[in-house]
Amino acid sequence: MKKVVCLLISVAAVSLMAADGEAIYKSKCFSCHGEKASKPALNKSQIIAGWDASKTIASINGYKNGEGGAMKGIMKPIAAALSEDDLKAVATVIASYK
Ligand code: HEC
Repeated sequence: MKKVVCLLISVAAVSLMAADGEAIYKSKCFSCHGEKASKPALNKSQIIAGWDASKTIASINGYKNGEGGAMKGIMKPIAAALSEDDLKAVATVIASYK
């Protein structure tokens, strides 16, 4: 009986966890920014691996507002599709890439 209760608690804990930044990176960013954000996207962007989370968040919010570099049009819809929580989660993961 105890085991069943433990199992239920751990399942609940997992589903309460915040957005999965790693999964978001793999599905939404990897194709252009590369393995562990180590490539310049489409040979144009800066390499964002290891960027402070706050820097990535500021940059993405900039794209949402129509700011950015020559290829900002590519990032705008991607930025717009990220929720606050997703953005925080993915920015944290990018900061952890070295
Ligand atoms: C279709 C390709 C593509 C995808 C997918 C993509 N990016 Fe980008 N990203 C770019 C390009 C191109 C730029 C450079 C845009 C510019 O000129 O400002 C860029 C720029 C950036 C920058 C700013 C870097 C700089 O040079 O100032 C950040 C931060 C960033 N992307 C994060 C992300 C995140 C996080 C995701 C996933 C949610 C993502 N990108 C998905 C192509 C992509």
